Amino acid sequence: MRLAVMVSGSGSNLQALIDAQKSHQLNATIKVVICDQPKAQAISRTLEARIPVICVPLAKKASREQWAAQISELLAAFKPDLVVMAGWMRVMPASFVERWTPNIINQHPALLPHDGGECYTLSDGRQIPAIRGAHAVRDALALGVPVTGCTVHQITPIVDVGPVLAQVEVAVLPDDDQDSLHERIKQAERRILVEVINNLAQTVA
Ligand code: GRF
Repeated sequence: MRLAVMVSGSGSNLQALIDAQKSHQLNATIKVVICDQPKAQAISRTLEARIPVICVPLAKKASREQWAAQISELLAAFKPDLVVMAGWMRVMPASFVERWTPNIINQHPALLPHDGGECYTLSDGRQIPAIRGAHAVRDALALGVPVTGCTVHQITPIVDVGPVLAQVEVAVLPDDDQDSLHERIKQAERRILVEVINNLAQTVA
């Protein structure tokens, strides 16, 4: 299966994919990495792995539609079977999502309800609020939820609502800060991202 990976930050999830590819644990090949942040550590990780990387920042006064269309064209040139948003921090316009759906997945560092609703039911039956948006780890701490986690889901034009492919619960510890909690969430994210991609690879001829 041919992968395109979209990143904005440190790229530790991307690194997990690169490492899994190198050790033949990934039934897919990363053909291109798209990054919107010129200084992101994800770029050096990609170069180190000798994978093509294209940096496409969103200019201040640019049209988001045109910028997203440019990314679509770049992606299309690499003919990906699956586009993986692995820490991509920008909401994409519906035109972009519609072009790639259902072959586009996203990671979210919290537990998204399967029904798209406002509550998530934990494995022990307790309910916690759905935590969507760009600050899910900070918001989990602020809300005081006992458990948070991570989700890999298909993308639909409505942000953080698409069909759930995999999830892991992560307990919030009494002395957690944003960094410690996010690091434990990321450990789970890296694992399920590889699992989800390998499952999806079985469906690609
Ligand atoms: C992950 O927690 C992802 O869910 C969120 O951004 C983080 C990216 O981490 N959207 P990294 O850049 O892969 O280290």
